[in-house]
Amino acid sequence: MPYQTVKGTYDLLPDEMVKFNMLADLFRQFLNLYGYSEIKTPVFEYTGVFQKENDTSDMVTKEMYTFSPNGKDSLTLRPEGTAGVIRSFVENKMYGNAELPVKLGYIEEMFRHERPQKGRQRQFTQMGIECIGDKDPLIDAEIITLGYFYIRTLGLEGVKVLINTLGDNESRLRYKKALSDYFRPYKDELCTDCQNRLEKNPLRILDCKIDHENEIVKNAPKMELSDDSAKYFEKVKHYLDILAIPYEIDDRLVRGLDYYTDTVFEVVSTNEASGSQATIFGGGRYDNLVKEMGGPEISGIGFAIGVERLMILCEAEEIFDFKKAIDCYVINMCKTPDYALSISEELRSNSFSTEMDYYGRSLKAQFKSSERKNARFVLIIGEDEEKENTVSLKDTLTRAQETVKRDELVERMDQLLEDYYE
Ligand code: HAM
Repeated sequence: MPYQTVKGTYDLLPDEMVKFNMLADLFRQFLNLYGYSEIKTPVFEYTGVFQKENDTSDMVTKEMYTFSPNGKDSLTLRPEGTAGVIRSFVENKMYGNAELPVKLGYIEEMFRHERPQKGRQRQFTQMGIECIGDKDPLIDAEIITLGYFYIRTLGLEGVKVLINTLGDNESRLRYKKALSDYFRPYKDELCTDCQNRLEKNPLRILDCKIDHENEIVKNAPKMELSDDSAKYFEKVKHYLDILAIPYEIDDRLVRGLDYYTDTVFEVVSTNEASGSQATIFGGGRYDNLVKEMGGPEISGIGFAIGVERLMILCEAEEIFDFKKAIDCYVINMCKTPDYALSISEELRSNSFSTEMDYYGRSLKAQFKSSERKNARFVLIIGEDEEKENTVSLKDTLTRAQETVKRDELVERMDQLLEDYYE
């Protein structure tokens, strides 16, 4: 039996790579527009980077790929990008930068041992940003705007921005106690996971995939925000209004990771192609993570987009309507490939993507290849052209064919392109 990919992993074949790169290129343009610099952190870190004391998220407690190659160190394949970026921020003392906040972006593979299904893999890619060093509602609104306009620029319809606040440490502590008191009498009616969450982190119960529709969960008390947190959230909404971002408040949105404080948000798709995995991206503010990682007491905020989910949606909404194409295909009818070879290289060094025949095939077969590769220009080279130092140049859009001197070839093709696009 030939080998196959491991369950929950997949190949990105060349056609899909074109689409993946289109999404990544646009994301990089957005990083640039909003002043973010790209960072790359290692695929694996010490487990403690991701796992904090009393962590209750499914990601940390159930889904991490943890291993110990030397029987001593516990290492983990990163399940998400934020923790590694904050580790790097602290390790490299970026908090000492004259210009805070530090704005970092990444496009990286993540690993979670989840049950695979459409839009949920064990290896997947996140495009994320982290803005670390300042806490201001203006930043929260800007980050949500960046993500929202990225999705809208792609042309996706039917996206909803959901926002909520988890309050500051004080409000959250009070809320957790109120939730524990509320849920305790119903303990037996909750799933086994939620029974464990009851004392450790009752906020997680609101996010439970099993108990989500349980009336007890639906009727749970709402959070009472401290004055500071309430004002903060009002300002975030105010700036989102100014920026004309259509958002909905979802007071049950708590997010699946433990580090969030104050603003949290998700962008979900209403397109049925996304199935049960409708969240395209999610994020929020984290007041305590930098300190927990050994840095000073400063806040950060960020989000991550799931690229695979985005690709499913772009496919369903026919966003990818482009064909892979090359600039030139060189047809060689000479006895040797020498002349065609040197012309091909000359074209590439003038930035024309170029392919040529390697096998001395018939004229018909070579023309067929040029069509399959969507070549814009076909250059036909026979014994006469080689002798006279010319080529026959065919423009496949206008279907015009002409003989061009070799040393005027690049200039002529530039001219034809210019005329066509004028
Ligand atoms: P997250 O909600 O766990 O947040 O993941 C962000 C996005 O990654 C999800 O909305 C989804 O699109 C994608 N995703 C997550 N798990 C999978 C999976 N198994 N298969 C495919 N896609 C998946 C975070 O990871 C946070 N680090 C985001 C963040 C950045 N918060 C602050 N800064």
